[in-house]
Amino acid sequence: MKDSEIISKTIAFVKETLKEAEGGHDWFHIERVYLNAQRIAQDQEVDLLVVSLGALLHDIADAKFHDGDESIGPRIAQDFLKSIGVAEKTICHVVNIINNISFKNSLEKKVEAQFLSTELMIIQDADRLDALGAIGIARAFNYGGFKNRELYNPDIAPNLNMTKEEYKKSNAPTINHFYEKLLLLKDKMNTPMGTKMAEERHGFMLNYLEQFYNEWKGTL
Ligand code: ADP
Ligand code: NI
Repeated sequence: MKDSEIISKTIAFVKETLKEAEGGHDWFHIERVYLNAQRIAQDQEVDLLVVSLGALLHDIADAKFHDGDESIGPRIAQDFLKSIGVAEKTICHVVNIINNISFKNSLEKKVEAQFLSTELMIIQDADRLDALGAIGIARAFNYGGFKNRELYNPDIAPNLNMTKEEYKKSNAPTINHFYEKLLLLKDKMNTPMGTKMAEERHGFMLNYLEQFYNEWKGTL
């Protein structure tokens, strides 16, 4: 089967599987990550099929929505890729990528993940980019609204010393998330293109925050 055919079959599968997914991790999140990943991969010597399949399948079963079971996503991806006859080596790489990405998100992780590849680093950058810029801002307030959090509260300062568990339980205003997570991402990017895109989106968020505070104080 041609790569383009594998990719269109995978797109159809992901759309169908994520039909009921919540807004932050729906098909459109996947599509944006897929497009970001392709852009980042442009100037790199990589296996483009692995980048595409990894991006398309990276959130196929987020452990957060499956009682923390991190083996589900990789298993669903593996079974699907096998069913359409993708080469074993490609499947193995894609599964390693999905494993590693869900591993990184895990609260219970005890040891660091072992697997590393340029394809994985590209997909991780592409996923992080979706938490930045205009889309990142929209996703943050969408998440905050879902959790019924305040937009902003000048009396509640950001806290950069929380453990992951504390962070999950914290009911802090959504603006704090910018300082606790989003504005730190640009320095964690893996690739030159990812870093460049993150810097642009970072700048946009700083402008947004300035406008936000001015409107809040009534000075604009
Ligand atoms: P991932 O995309 O790696 O699964 P999450 O599920 O933690 O990450 O986050 C999904 C989206 O929700 C991201 O855009 C993230 O910025 C946003 N988000 C996560 N936690 C918070 C929070 N405490 N406040 C506001 N937005 C959040
Ligand atoms: Ni994602």
